Amino acid sequence: MPVTVPMKMGAVALFLCLLAAALWLGLTMTIPESSGGGGNPGGGNPGGGNPGGNGCVPTSLPTAEVGLCGKLEVFYMELGNISCKIIPKCNLYRQKITTLPQPIVKFPTAIDGAQYLLVMVDPDAPSRTDPRMKYWRHWVVSNITAADIKAGNIRGNVITDYQPPTPPPTTGLHRYQFFVYLQGDRVISISTKDNRNRGAWNLQKFLKDHNLQNHETSTQFMTEHDGAWPPPAF
Ligand SMILES: *[C@@H]1O[C@H](CO)[C@@H](O)[C@H](O)[C@H]1NC(C)=O
Ligand SMILES: *[C@@H]1O[C@H](CO)[C@@H](O)[C@H](O)[C@H]1NC(C)=O
Repeated sequence: MPVTVPMKMGAVALFLCLLAAALWLGLTMTIPESSGGGGNPGGGNPGGGNPGGNGCVPTSLPTAEVGLCGKLEVFYMELGNISCKIIPKCNLYRQKITTLPQPIVKFPTAIDGAQYLLVMVDPDAPSRTDPRMKYWRHWVVSNITAADIKAGNIRGNVITDYQPPTPPPTTGLHRYQFFVYLQGDRVISISTKDNRNRGAWNLQKFLKDHNLQNHETSTQFMTEHDGAWPPPAF
């Protein structure tokens, strides 16, 4: 019987392997459910190192940060709708967002026939605890039609080109804020001097100069530097 004995042992080993694999799968599949909830800003990494993307989803902003959550939706390629979310570390999303093209920004309840202005800023430059470069101007587009902003197609008069978030290392979570204003027939511009630098932009003065008061809607998302990424040139 020297032939059948090893075969039986092989079958037992195979069975044990399958059992172990099934247990491992069951275990890993429960992890995102048990720890993927909100209330863990920045530090949490529920789906870390999960290349399949299962369980790697943006978490909701903590309650203290939802003040700007309005009717504006922000969709990045791959990431989806990250309005009022924290970009997770898993799937290299924090690295990817630094190179992804401009997002789709949708204002579904825009008023037909109206003209809009979109402003995207980072108030936490270079960090939230030391925002001496507040505001960092990421994107300014005026003359956006209602039809375009309803569809999320941000085009019109590009005053400042889209620049993706590149939070510097060890500066914690940054807020990326989007404001939409009813432009009306205002002619929007930024002085040549101001347009030279993105940092330390005086948003309040810009709004005052254009007689813009309250925004129509807004939102924000948060992300931070991914430790594994080479520091961006800032
Ligand atoms: C996008 O996310 C925001 C905030 O979580 C939510 O209010 C909105 O309904 C979402 N929209 C879509 C189309 O997923
Ligand atoms: C933008 O809109 C303003 C106000 O309606 C208008 O005067 C201006 O010509 C428009 N600019 C462009 C580049 O379309």
